[in-house]
Amino acid sequence: MLRDSFGRVATDLRVSLTDKCNLRCTYCMPPEGLDWLPNAQLLTADEIVRLVTIGVEQLGVTEVRYTGGEPLLRRELPDIVGRTAALSPRPQVSLTTNGIGLARLAGTLVEAGLDRVNVSLDTLDRDTFKRLAHRDRFEDVIAGLSAAHDAGLRPVKVNTVLMRDVNDHEAVPLLRYCLEQGYELRFIEQMPLDAQHGWTREGMVTADEILALLSVSFDLTPDDLEERGSAPAERFLVDGGPARVGVIGSVTRPFCGACDRVRLTADGQIRNCLFATEESDLKTPLRDGASDEELAARWIAAVSRKRAGHGIDDPSFLQPSRPMSAIGG
Ligand code: 5AD
Ligand code: SF4
Repeated sequence: MLRDSFGRVATDLRVSLTDKCNLRCTYCMPPEGLDWLPNAQLLTADEIVRLVTIGVEQLGVTEVRYTGGEPLLRRELPDIVGRTAALSPRPQVSLTTNGIGLARLAGTLVEAGLDRVNVSLDTLDRDTFKRLAHRDRFEDVIAGLSAAHDAGLRPVKVNTVLMRDVNDHEAVPLLRYCLEQGYELRFIEQMPLDAQHGWTREGMVTADEILALLSVSFDLTPDDLEERGSAPAERFLVDGGPARVGVIGSVTRPFCGACDRVRLTADGQIRNCLFATEESDLKTPLRDGASDEELAARWIAAVSRKRAGHGIDDPSFLQPSRPMSAIGG
């Protein structure tokens, strides 16, 4: 098992398949993009499946989430999903995507074994989308969302990051839209993970503010019927339910104590936290011919060093040197 010194057990593996993206969301990367990892450093599909297999079959991983950058940019994604779903015990297989390309691929991914999807959507307005993501791809995202729903993925989850004076007036319309479409919306507090280091506490729309914005138009009651467990989202019934909305207060309501995640970067590094400042290299030993047992031992050691919390609120907080797109969401 992947147990840390505080007794937390990592069962949720997030795998970044690429650091590249076809959007440039301001809270993630600069308009000109970043220096992408050279292809030779990216794990191949076979290498990814080998490590995921070790995680699932030897280390107790029960959920595998593919992220990026933008994971749909990896042409082998359906193959990787299919091989992951074929492992035993079969893990839950999910995807975090910006939705571009999902219109074409949702059916194929479901056939391959994809169980769930999270799609990022920060606005319902095409011009705001262009301003926020620096690309005119709003319609592609909307089409991707409805294709995911049509392909039978349930629930289709939508992730929204609100930014002050950019899209914070859209909290209510976004929730109304998601309720109409049958999507489950979760608002995520903006975290200091952008490559440009542009995050400020003042610019962050907090969980309290999000709830206040929504409460003007909706009656929200805490959904304590369902155990929160390790889920980062605090969920609320909307107007008595059954519809729900989630608020992920990563900064102001940290959930580090219940964290069950571990991350594998596109270049084969284990990160025991989104905010870790150290990584453990699995790619080098993998390419040098290490056995499954050796790789598993390194992985166990990497998780055992996990710190108690991210400490964003601590004056000594250091932003990780890699941006979100290179870590995976
Ligand atoms: N803060 C909060 N959420 C972020 N995401 C990307 N960068 C940030 C950030 N700095 C979100 C994306 C996506 C998920 C992977 O994380 O919108 O939904
Ligand atoms: Fe791409 Fe996601 Fe970063 Fe936006 S947040 S630029 S969609 S990786």
